[in-house]
Amino acid sequence: MAEVVIVENSQAAGELVAAEIARLIARRSDAVLGLATGSTPLPVYAALREQLAGTDVSRVRGFALDEYVGLDPAHPESYRSVITREVVEPLGLTPSLVHVPDGAEAGIEHAGAEYDARIHAAGGVDLQLLGIGTDGHIGFNEPGSSFASRTRVKTLTEQTREDNARFFDSLEQVPRHCITQGLGTILEARHLVLLAYGEGKAQAIADAVEGPLSAFMPASAIQLHPHATVVVDEAAASKLKLAGYYRYTFANKPAWQGI
Ligand code: GLP
Repeated sequence: MAEVVIVENSQAAGELVAAEIARLIARRSDAVLGLATGSTPLPVYAALREQLAGTDVSRVRGFALDEYVGLDPAHPESYRSVITREVVEPLGLTPSLVHVPDGAEAGIEHAGAEYDARIHAAGGVDLQLLGIGTDGHIGFNEPGSSFASRTRVKTLTEQTREDNARFFDSLEQVPRHCITQGLGTILEARHLVLLAYGEGKAQAIADAVEGPLSAFMPASAIQLHPHATVVVDEAAASKLKLAGYYRYTFANKPAWQGI
């Protein structure tokens, strides 16, 4: 099963995960990072700014999980813009080495396969950051997504559109389609790190970590992965049945193992 680490707050989560990424980059200067959008990974990116200060990151590569279809990449809420603003610029990554799925409508039928081929050509993702939607989606793999799915176009649920409307002027502006790495694509990353904070994510986390494997709960796919780490604050951990065991395990873990 996934290793669950319960931390005090989102800042502690960010620091813990950033330390793991910094260790990875120290080992491998051209590490391939799997980047996520949404508010959840922001504390990781903030902590990375400090922890990577003075490190040469010019060879670090990145692949984002997903993108809206038909939204101008220059729109401030396109995931291309978000990744540039929150990750590439503040960390000083080389823009040409950081990829986001192409959400342009022209050629969209080939964009998924091309993206998977790019990830493959880069040697795969070393560490994949993941947030989780209130309905259990990872990337934009909505309930019902096949565990074998590849990068492809999906239709967003109304719940996800409503959740994401806060980034737009109105619900109407939130695109209806997206292109997202599939669950099968995500499972090929060498290390998955799923983060969540707050009570609103507690049920999805409990279902993903301790519930049955089900395409209805896309994040439960992480149970199939040999190295998955779930980093949650107390509120997001509040519905986990084995919380005491996870705390005990982490407290007794040898420091050299990292997460
Ligand atoms: C979006 C993204 C997901 C993200 C989710 C949760 O739907 N495509 O990658 O995990 O939102 O967002 P937040 O982290 O803001 O709660």
